Amino acid sequence: MKFRFIKTNDPEYVKEKMLRWENLRKPLGLPPGSEVIPEDKDSLHFVAFDKKDLVGCVLFHPESAIKGRLFQMTISEEYRGQGFGRKLIATLEHFLNDKGYQEVYLYAREDSLGFYKQMGYHAEEETIEIVHLPHRLMRKQLVKKEIPHGALIQRH
Ligand SMILES: CC(C)(COP(=O)(O)OP(=O)(O)OC[C@H]1O[C@@H](n2cnc3c(N)ncnc32)[C@H](O)[C@@H]1OP(=O)(O)O)[C@@H](O)C(=O)NCCC(=O)NCCS
Repeated sequence: MKFRFIKTNDPEYVKEKMLRWENLRKPLGLPPGSEVIPEDKDSLHFVAFDKKDLVGCVLFHPESAIKGRLFQMTISEEYRGQGFGRKLIATLEHFLNDKGYQEVYLYAREDSLGFYKQMGYHAEEETIEIVHLPHRLMRKQLVKKEIPHGALIQRH
């Protein structure tokens, strides 16, 4: 499994949209195209490939220099339950942390709350309806890993 960023003018974007539609919109009876959100063009698109197949994706929309929102997270059905969702989100968070982002938030479907809790997101009271489904606000603070005191002292 390989992860990388793509842009909306890359040919892989078509595959990303197809995965998003199949996993996030088609089960709700929504047509192709309904997966595209206004934030698409200004978001980072982080995707997972297994050979030539695009099998996972997540979008990050920056809202300030330190904060942004995750959208449209999904892993292909046949690849679920193997830790790929965890790796995808953790790798993206690591990248964001390096860029100075301190907070990520998202709105989670009720049936994916457990996944995001495992990833360290805290559920808040606020819920909103997206595509006719209740979604719960969740947040995570990205904390720079401190170098343990003394770790840089060379021992002879
Ligand atoms: C939610 C989703 C992205 C998880 O991806 P995944 O690759 O299956 O997740 P992982 O295998 O990396 O799971 C990581 C951990 O979360 C747990 N987990 C995964 N999905 C879960 C769920 N729906 N509820 C509770 N826990 C879940 C796993 O058991 C695992 O726990 P562990 O580390 O203790 O073993 C995937 O199921 C999916 O695409 N679902 C459909 C689309 C969707 O609902 N997206 C979210 C929209 S808000």
